Amino acid sequence: MKEIHDFSFLALHRHGEHYFTLVLRHSHLSPMPPVAPGQFVEVRVDGEPGVMLRRPISVHDVDPDAGTLSLLVQVVGKGTRRLSQLTEGDRVNIVYPLGHGFSVDLPVSSRALLVGGGAGIAPLFYLSKVLKAKGVDCTILLGGRTAELIPVRDEFRPYGTVCLSTDDGSLGHKGLVIENPAFAEQYDIIYTCGPTPMMKAVARSAAERGIRCEVSLENMMACGVGACLCCVTDTDQGHRCVCKDGPVFDITSMKKWYENK
Ligand SMILES: Cc1cc2nc3c(=O)[nH]c(=O)nc-3n(C[C@H](O)[C@H](O)[C@H](O)COP(=O)(O)OP(=O)(O)OC[C@H]3O[C@@H](n4cnc5c(N)ncnc54)[C@H](O)[C@@H]3O)c2cc1C
Ligand code: FES
Repeated sequence: MKEIHDFSFLALHRHGEHYFTLVLRHSHLSPMPPVAPGQFVEVRVDGEPGVMLRRPISVHDVDPDAGTLSLLVQVVGKGTRRLSQLTEGDRVNIVYPLGHGFSVDLPVSSRALLVGGGAGIAPLFYLSKVLKAKGVDCTILLGGRTAELIPVRDEFRPYGTVCLSTDDGSLGHKGLVIENPAFAEQYDIIYTCGPTPMMKAVARSAAERGIRCEVSLENMMACGVGACLCCVTDTDQGHRCVCKDGPVFDITSMKKWYENK
């Protein structure tokens, strides 16, 4: 059930120049609706006349008991810059929870690999928390061009084994995430979110190795609810709206997508 609510500003934590975590408090009388890992919100950006459409941002963390919702955001343009300027007393209008999230019903002691790059790290945090609570053994493999571009990496440590890769070798293994030794191990499932070339490489490898795999796409979006068709992607079952049918897709329906480099 989608809801539209005003949240109040609780905190904003900066992670270097490019990323910040925005923590919001649910200020509605009714309880928060259930949110699955991999679902996203559409944020209205107030106070920036150049930004008309809401911006889609993944749920980074949610605590229904405390009534808090966290978003991990990369500053890339006018909308995300305006969000980075939010402060005490501000309110933020959000439509949520949107989309179809990751599959989390795995047998206890299953081995899961979570592969994130750039802002694609965001939904993997809540995913790792939920999987850990279900007794799943998680390896969390995060990549970026430099150490500075892998935010909140230490926050993942309570939820699994964290492995890092940077292009310049400034942190962790030097090279792409798929070249990290942790990637070559055997898993029951691989989840991935990040730049499209990274996700396609992860999906191709998972398919070759016969490992179940889910990818979370970040196509451009407008309405976020399946009405405008601007987020459509071509799957093996025809065109699908990333906002409504995804953003998470099992790669068994995405062969055309991941084979097209
Ligand atoms: C399902 C989904 C979940 C996302 N989750 C996160 C997240 O957790 N954290 C995060 O930092 N970012 C996330 N994004 C990307 C985020 O929506 C865009 O970075 C944001 O909309 C850019 O807005 P802007 O006004 O700052 O930039 P703009 O000035 O609009 O554009 C700047 C750049 O961002 C790209 N961009 C713009 N709009 C989108 C869009 N709707 N989707 C993808 N790329 C876009 C443009 O191609 C351009 O290169 C997500 C996108 C999707 C579709
Ligand atoms: S964003 Fe409008 S249909 Fe997906």
